[in-house]
Amino acid sequence: MISLQRMLGLFMLMLLHGAPITPGTMTTLPATAKPTVVTFPLELNPPRVVVRYGDSVSVNCSTSSTDHKGMGWEATFGDAGFEQDVNIVTWTVDNLTDWTIKPKCYMPLIDGEQASKVLPVILYKPPDSVSISVLRHSGPMVEGTEYQLQCDIQNMAPLQNLVVKWYKGNEPLDNVTYSNVSKTPVDVSATLMISPSRHDDGAQYRCRAELDLGPEGPQPHPTVTSEPLSITVHYAPEFLPGNDTVEVSAGSDVSLDCSAEGNPPPELRWTNNTAEGNANETTVGRLRTLYISRVTANATYNCTVTNGLGSITKQIQVLVDVPPQQHPTMFSTAPSTPGTMTTLPATAKPTVVTFPLELNPPRVVVRYGDSVSVNCSTSSTDHEGMGWEATFGGTNFEQDVNIVTWTVDNLTDWTIEPKCYITLIDDEQASKVLPVILYKTPDSISISVLRHSGAMVEGTEYQLQCDIQNMAPLQNLVVKWYKGNEPLDHVTYSNVSKTPVDVSATLMISPSRHDDGAQYRCRAELDLGPEGPQPHPTVTSEPLSITVHYAPEFLLGNDTVEVSAGSDVSLNCSAEGNPPPELRWTNNTAHNVKSSTEGRQRTIRITKATSTNAGIYICTATNRVGTATRTTTVTMKGGSTSISLTIVIIFPVIFLIFLIVFFMCKKRQGFYNFIPVNQPNDVPLMPLPTIGVGNHDPEGYPMKV
Ligand SMILES: *[C@@H]1O[C@H](CO)[C@@H](O)[C@H](O)[C@H]1NC(C)=O
Ligand SMILES: *[C@@H]1O[C@H](CO)[C@@H](O)[C@H](O)[C@H]1NC(C)=O
Ligand SMILES: *[C@@H]1O[C@H](CO)[C@@H](O)[C@H](O)[C@H]1NC(C)=O
Ligand SMILES: *[C@@H]1O[C@H](CO)[C@@H](O)[C@H](O)[C@H]1NC(C)=O
Ligand SMILES: *[C@@H]1O[C@H](CO)[C@@H](O)[C@H](O)[C@H]1NC(C)=O
Ligand SMILES: *[C@@H]1O[C@H](CO)[C@@H](O)[C@H](O)[C@H]1NC(C)=O
Ligand SMILES: *[C@@H]1O[C@H](CO)[C@@H](O)[C@H](O)[C@H]1NC(C)=O
Ligand SMILES: *[C@@H]1O[C@H](CO)[C@@H](O)[C@H](O)[C@H]1NC(C)=O
Ligand SMILES: *[C@@H]1O[C@H](CO)[C@@H](O)[C@H](O)[C@H]1NC(C)=O
Ligand SMILES: *[C@@H]1O[C@H](CO)[C@@H](O)[C@H](O)[C@H]1NC(C)=O
Ligand SMILES: *[C@@H]1O[C@H](CO)[C@@H](O)[C@H](O)[C@H]1NC(C)=O
Ligand SMILES: *[C@@H]1O[C@H](CO)[C@@H](O)[C@H](O)[C@H]1NC(C)=O
Repeated sequence: MISLQRMLGLFMLMLLHGAPITPGTMTTLPATAKPTVVTFPLELNPPRVVVRYGDSVSVNCSTSSTDHKGMGWEATFGDAGFEQDVNIVTWTVDNLTDWTIKPKCYMPLIDGEQASKVLPVILYKPPDSVSISVLRHSGPMVEGTEYQLQCDIQNMAPLQNLVVKWYKGNEPLDNVTYSNVSKTPVDVSATLMISPSRHDDGAQYRCRAELDLGPEGPQPHPTVTSEPLSITVHYAPEFLPGNDTVEVSAGSDVSLDCSAEGNPPPELRWTNNTAEGNANETTVGRLRTLYISRVTANATYNCTVTNGLGSITKQIQVLVDVPPQQHPTMFSTAPSTPGTMTTLPATAKPTVVTFPLELNPPRVVVRYGDSVSVNCSTSSTDHEGMGWEATFGGTNFEQDVNIVTWTVDNLTDWTIEPKCYITLIDDEQASKVLPVILYKTPDSISISVLRHSGAMVEGTEYQLQCDIQNMAPLQNLVVKWYKGNEPLDHVTYSNVSKTPVDVSATLMISPSRHDDGAQYRCRAELDLGPEGPQPHPTVTSEPLSITVHYAPEFLLGNDTVEVSAGSDVSLNCSAEGNPPPELRWTNNTAHNVKSSTEGRQRTIRITKATSTNAGIYICTATNRVGTATRTTTVTMKGGSTSISLTIVIIFPVIFLIFLIVFFMCKKRQGFYNFIPVNQPNDVPLMPLPTIGVGNHDPEGYPMKV
């Protein structure tokens, strides 16, 4: 194609100059009518020249003829003049700058005829500059749009030998040639249409002007290349492959992938149809992930990616496997199965048809006074229209729609039962009621002790009451009791009440001495199920601090003290209790016995003991709650064994023997369970489950030893 063009160019050039292409021909114009054409050898060497503008050139013109007068060159520059009797003349120019030069070698013959031959000269000049630009546009390009690149080539010749080559990176795109013929320098602009794709973002376009001057021309071709033009391609966002359904088990964490690419990098927005929280988002390059911790409810997450060129949305379903038995009291009054429609035709038997009337979300949990919006849609095609019927936010019957929306800005109707209905072409109607849970957290919560005030007494039962004011719905309330941070009990209600109620929960406590100063609290929590707010709305009471009074308790057990006659001895008694007990010694009336008090310890001191001091000393500790005693037996050393000592030692031995005998007699009669001796006395002695065969008393209690 190019070489054809170039040949055409050369051909036309020769025609313009009237030069023969074939070896020289001579037209003789004799007096005779018939002209004769004679061929003869007039040879140019080289036969044609390709010269760079300003370069030197030299061509010999020679002949093998013998009957000629001489030879010469005729040219605007480098005229060699006429030389006689030569067979060769040389045309030489040092600095060829004449674009239209037509050197001609001529040879007059003896017979007055003249032969001549024109030298084909191609004078060329590579461009001063080559540059690339985008026509009628600046800034980033948009994918799929057409743009025109222009290559400006300054001051080159000859046009017919120019090849403009376009490149993207190193990939050749297109070649352009010109059929216009121009020997003198011209400015040329070539254009290229492009419609870039996202993969062309950052691509570099170049154009190159090449002079293909044929086999006589310089090799490789003189070439000038433009600076590269880098393009930026913007394109609408596109999702990278990712799952659109994720199955997880309840309570586990899940990560949703919404990776997308686009230029400029798209912005991402997540929306969902759940009230659950606990999500965070991460972006690593094009990878966009939403982490959700502890999912409990099925939900749809929409991921929308947007840049200046577009916005697309992907829906990701999170399906949660739940073990059954969750939230049994929820939605007890509302249907949650797909809509059913009962048709009542003339025939006796009614038919039940199921059809898709879908509520989205399928149920709602709304805080009193909040806004709510639910879509009701159908895939039915043969219906007249749809509507919502509700005390607030109902819609009119809308014809020929597949979706109607129920919206309330400030939901305050406790008993609202919005119903979406559809009227089919045959005048049948179907409807679905939206289960609505309207909730309200308590106005106040307080804790008190019932029928008692002041300090409590250890081991006594008291009733704590938690008063919860004006909350709804009762069936979703959980009252939790705490002592300090320790959970004690929780209470739920099976009563169903949609409207706000006041509730009192009670807790029985029987405080021990260790509970003195303990703080009790109660907390009202609304567990509204997976659709409800997380964490649960909660109101906690002020703490109730209790004081526990308890009787004594001696720090030491009963004791025996041996005293030598004439020595001194001190007997100590100390006890604790709340309030602190009063301590008293009895049997300290002897003249050599003195009592004293030091802090919470009461001491009696016997000076110069005599046998009259031997005996049992009793310390009594008394407070409002009770009295306890502790004995100290004083014996005299070295003296005959006193009666009391005899009692102390001998009585337990006799008792033990009695016990063994008694036990052996009873054992023969059957099996017995013994109540441990340290069992607190206030624990009722319940009949034990029958273990083996045994004799029980008429009331079913085990026989007490
Ligand atoms: C022209 O002729 C001269 C003399 O014979 C010779 O030296 C020269 O090389 C020739 N030039 C060419 C281009 O043939
Ligand atoms: C050739 O001629 C041009 C124009 O006449 C001139 O500008 C240029 O300097 C010359 N070059 C040489 C090498 O003589
Ligand atoms: C342009 O021409 C070159 C040869 O000069 C050839 O290799 C190339 O394939 C051509 N490109 C196109 C796009 O025609
Ligand atoms: C080539 O010639 C055509 C008409 O003959 C003209 O429209 C066009 O502009 C010319 N191209 C150049 C590069 O001179
Ligand atoms: C899509 O889900 C399958 C099976 O649940 C999992 O193997 C795969 O890794 C997921 N692909 C992506 C991109 O998350
Ligand atoms: C998610 O997108 C779908 C369709 O694009 C729309 O119908 C639905 O309401 C959206 N859901 C959320 C929660 O944004
Ligand atoms: C779901 O959307 C709600 C409201 O837009 C938002 O408060 C909540 O954090 C979102 N939950 C998750 C897990 O993204
Ligand atoms: C996002 O959540 C994941 C999983 O729940 C957690 O590992 C990660 O640390 C969280 N990142 C941030 C920034 O909170
Ligand atoms: C989620 O949907 C699946 C199937 O639709 C169902 O089996 C599952 O019980 C649903 N989970 C919850 C929490 O509603
Ligand atoms: C909602 O309605 C209630 C009762 O009609 C009204 O007391 C309350 O101010 C309203 N709240 C808003 C935010 O409009
Ligand atoms: C007091 O001590 C005498 C012996 O000194 C003793 O016989 C008597 O039983 C004691 N009284 C009491 C109440 O323990
Ligand atoms: C001391 O013994 C008496 C009966 O002898 C008993 O009632 C009392 O509880 C005992 N005191 C202590 C502290 O053990």
